[in-house]
Amino acid sequence: MSDNQIWREAAEAVHWYQKPTRLLDDSNPPFYRWYPDGVTNACYNAVDIHVDQGRGEQLAVIYDSPVTGSKHSYTYSQLLVEVSRFAGVLASQGVGKGDRVIVYMPMVPEALIAMLACARIGAIHSVVFGGFASNELAVRIDDATPRVVVSASCGVEPNRIVAYKPLLDQAIELAAHKPGRCIILQRPMQQADLQPGRDLDWEEAMGAAEPVGCTPVGANDPLYILYTSGTTGQPKGVVRDTGGSIASLKWSMKNIYNVDPGEVYWAASDVGWVVGHSYIVYGPLFNGNTTLIYEGKPVGTPDPGAFWRVIDEHKVRVMFTAPTAFRAIRKEDPEGKYLEKYDHSGLRALFLAGERCDPNTLEWAQEKLQVPVIDHWWQTETGWSICANCLGIEQLPIVPGSPARPVPGYDVRVLDRDGSPVPAGEIGALVIKSPLPPGTFTTLWNAEDRYQKAYFSRFPGYYETGDAGYIDDNGYVFVMARTDDVINVAGHRLSTGAMEEVLADHPDVAECAVIGIADKLKGQLPLGLLVLNAGVDRQPGEVVAEAIQQVRDRIGPVAAFKHCAVVSRLPKTRSGKILRGTMRSIADGEAWKMPATIDDPAIMDEIMEVLGAMGLPSAGA
Ligand code: COA
Ligand code: AMP
Repeated sequence: MSDNQIWREAAEAVHWYQKPTRLLDDSNPPFYRWYPDGVTNACYNAVDIHVDQGRGEQLAVIYDSPVTGSKHSYTYSQLLVEVSRFAGVLASQGVGKGDRVIVYMPMVPEALIAMLACARIGAIHSVVFGGFASNELAVRIDDATPRVVVSASCGVEPNRIVAYKPLLDQAIELAAHKPGRCIILQRPMQQADLQPGRDLDWEEAMGAAEPVGCTPVGANDPLYILYTSGTTGQPKGVVRDTGGSIASLKWSMKNIYNVDPGEVYWAASDVGWVVGHSYIVYGPLFNGNTTLIYEGKPVGTPDPGAFWRVIDEHKVRVMFTAPTAFRAIRKEDPEGKYLEKYDHSGLRALFLAGERCDPNTLEWAQEKLQVPVIDHWWQTETGWSICANCLGIEQLPIVPGSPARPVPGYDVRVLDRDGSPVPAGEIGALVIKSPLPPGTFTTLWNAEDRYQKAYFSRFPGYYETGDAGYIDDNGYVFVMARTDDVINVAGHRLSTGAMEEVLADHPDVAECAVIGIADKLKGQLPLGLLVLNAGVDRQPGEVVAEAIQQVRDRIGPVAAFKHCAVVSRLPKTRSGKILRGTMRSIADGEAWKMPATIDDPAIMDEIMEVLGAMGLPSAGA
């Protein structure tokens, strides 16, 4: 079947108020528009449709929270009541079609309810991951200019309660844009002080609200904005449209994951990431599955059997998580003893993404679970997978280290620096021929120019993924590394450039560099090197401690910025470029050569000494 036929058929499975008569508007590349004259609503397709089709009594959402010891579930009918009521709350605050709403919440069902309620009234949600600090939230508030922020009093991490409300208050203080209203879910673990006149209590607001129906929106109207790390401190606001998202995500549930309506599908991620948007919230609900909101970790909540308990207890058929979660489980339970306590015979497949899956982890998971373990490659920008072993179409042989072949709709190529194709097996820039399929990003919020320049200018006619890799003789794609300064820490995408901006703000720091070093558990960890201003007469350790705290306060704990040291100079080329790659090779224990262009080779001795004192190379070596 041709790609166009696939997307025509995928559209048949969508509920439209007005069916699209055109498949693709390609008149203004790279701003392609799928289903341009369709009219639909994402919330209707996720919730109401199942009630209308007689599946109201089926479970839609299971909330399982080992960190709070609570469990709760919603049928589709119950979810409809909650969502339409919260949509009423938003509407009563003046939120309407096209308005933005920021959702800054932990993994509670109310996060999903808030997202769907926005979609119901045509408002654009922008979920901010709870592990980001006030400053990151403030940047997003200023860019998205939300009318309302929805948040909670706290999040619960295994080692502490994270008070969200003070972080939100501080973010609003820092931001130039002031949202008119904050709606706060009070959690019993820690209540928040509400600011009279600005803050509303979720429960009270729900009690007073009238349910509202779905607002029809254009297929190309934005469903959401999701900020992701770029190479600078200014995150990119990825915009996804409504019609393309419904068609592609629904299609992917059967064709990639091979799950049927009524089955339990679990993505162990967070609603703050793209995986959470696509496969905790929208994909499974569009497809009539039961989705799981898991507030816990793979280990320590309470033990490395946590995932197996959930699979057994809730009859999970297909699971999706990041390889780092499996590395964490394997580290604590290498023999898989905890697996024996639970029945996982109903699980049919495990999908991994978010970072490259090392063959060892994949093989371990496959041996222990005895199901296909599918590495698939995707990005916030694409919203669903570029390459995968599509279980619902035809299972291909699994080749550890490769996310298999491009999914229908993605024409993946490998190009050299000049834009010429490279032969099979040779590394180059991984690019995708335009147009990207439905459900991929349509622009960057407030930054159409950046959309064009960052992704479509270097290789005209192609989308530049920012990943490097190769395609072998069998058409299998291998994704090896980023071509920019983005690093991947425990499946979380972070910008070293953003961390450098924070470090450079320290009054004693003259210059700095942040590189991603290999880590056995998290894949990569950031490492910072600081050069202090001339005349600074302080213990280097003091400055380092402040610098570490500054990154935690400004970016958030999720950056896991814990390795940092002071050096007298940074190694540079004669033209002044910092030799990050060479330092990374040394830290990772890889073979390295003194670059011919280095301005002062003697500095490398100091770098090796400093890294050695930090215990590097260690984990990644
Ligand atoms: N709110 C507040 N803080 C948060 C948070 C949240 N939602 N999520 C994470 N954090 C904090 C953690 O408490 C931790 O803080 P600490 O430095 O005080 O310990 C820090 O951010 C790093 O968190 P995390 O990345 O979760 O690391 P960890 O060491 O606590 O756990 C793993 C390691 C591998 C178990 C964990 O990273 C994991 O489960 N990863 C799954 C990957 C995933 O979901 N990826 C998403 C894409 S699919
Ligand atoms: P994010 O936008 O947070 O989903 O991160 C996307 C980036 O994570 C990609 O550009 C890759 O660098 C990396 N990534 C995600 N999935 C994979 C995978 N299966 N294999 C290799 N890298 C991956």
